[in-house]
Amino acid sequence: ISQHQRDLLALYDEATKFYHYLLVNAEIGDDALQYLHQRGLDDTTIDAYMLGYAPEGDALYNYFNEKKVDYQLMRESELFIVWDDGTLHDRFVDRILFTIRNREGAPIAFSGRRMSNDTTIAKYMNSPESALFDKSEELFNFDLAKTTIKKSKVVILFEGFMDVIAAFQAGIHNGVASMGTSLTKTQVRRLGQSAEEINIAYDADTAGQAATYRAIDLINKNSSLKIKIINIPDGQDPDEYLRSQGIDALREVLTRNLKDPVEFNLNYLRKDYDLSNQSDIFNYIEQVLPALAQVKEPLVRQTYMQQLATEFNVSSSGLEEQLRNLMMQQQ
Ligand code: UTP
Ligand code: MN
Ligand code: MN
Ligand code: MN
Ligand code: MN
Repeated sequence: ISQHQRDLLALYDEATKFYHYLLVNAEIGDDALQYLHQRGLDDTTIDAYMLGYAPEGDALYNYFNEKKVDYQLMRESELFIVWDDGTLHDRFVDRILFTIRNREGAPIAFSGRRMSNDTTIAKYMNSPESALFDKSEELFNFDLAKTTIKKSKVVILFEGFMDVIAAFQAGIHNGVASMGTSLTKTQVRRLGQSAEEINIAYDADTAGQAATYRAIDLINKNSSLKIKIINIPDGQDPDEYLRSQGIDALREVLTRNLKDPVEFNLNYLRKDYDLSNQSDIFNYIEQVLPALAQVKEPLVRQTYMQQLATEFNVSSSGLEEQLRNLMMQQQ
């Protein structure tokens, strides 16, 4: 890495410590600290993740300016917004800060969460891309999780910061987050190098389920990871589930009765069809056959075929033939 990147890393390290200090030790961070406590995080977790608070005003700029940090370096850090007159102003204002670290554990970006319920402003605001940060490459928590992932060969994929951190506090240390619902090839390849199995624990809402469907395809195409799907009950996300049901219930959900991705797909694709209608049944079958064609084990494939034939009262041999045709086309 370049000297410029080393300087930026040092700056992010300073910024992380400053924001963490304000959260944990300064009066200005009291409400933010209370917010995190109310969300169930204890002080050990808040320290382990170096969570922070960015107050109103230009606290970070003033701090760095006093320490005579180079203007150009500050400007290129993306920690500040540059006004037309060239002056720098704190990018993160009145937000809880999650620190995004690279795989070596060095802070490279922040994501700031608003504390209010005001939905007219974005819930999370992220650092833009910089010489240190490419959002499509990073996975939140990979640095802390990698030892456990390599030992257990299993990685749990969450959507959000709070899901990973809640799981971590509950003793589940192999979780990472894609930081939203758009998983990338690069992220998948990296996970494929450390794990043999990936358990997808996206939110149980519409966006999370659609993202699970896309993730299955992306993972199949870019890794040899074995996939299992975690179903969070009641339309919740893992963090909400932990809050409402407790640690044991979350552990249970994350480790038991995981679904086969084919089973997930068969079920997920139903939403597009009225399956009391004959032509919808045929269209549904046509849409799910490609998923079945991807199943390598003949016995598993046959079982799903049998289920389809029985449920929709269609001929097994007709289904078989259609699948054979499809698999031939794919070769
Ligand atoms: P969610 O909307 O599921 O938020 O987005 P969350 O993680 O449950 O947040 P809390 O629990 O309300 O605090 C999942 C993830 O997508 C990214 C964040 O990484 C978030 O954790 N995201 C979400 C953004 O980057 N920007 C947004 O405005 C929203
Ligand atoms: Mn205090
Ligand atoms: Mn979500
Ligand atoms: Mn969520
Ligand atoms: Mn949440």
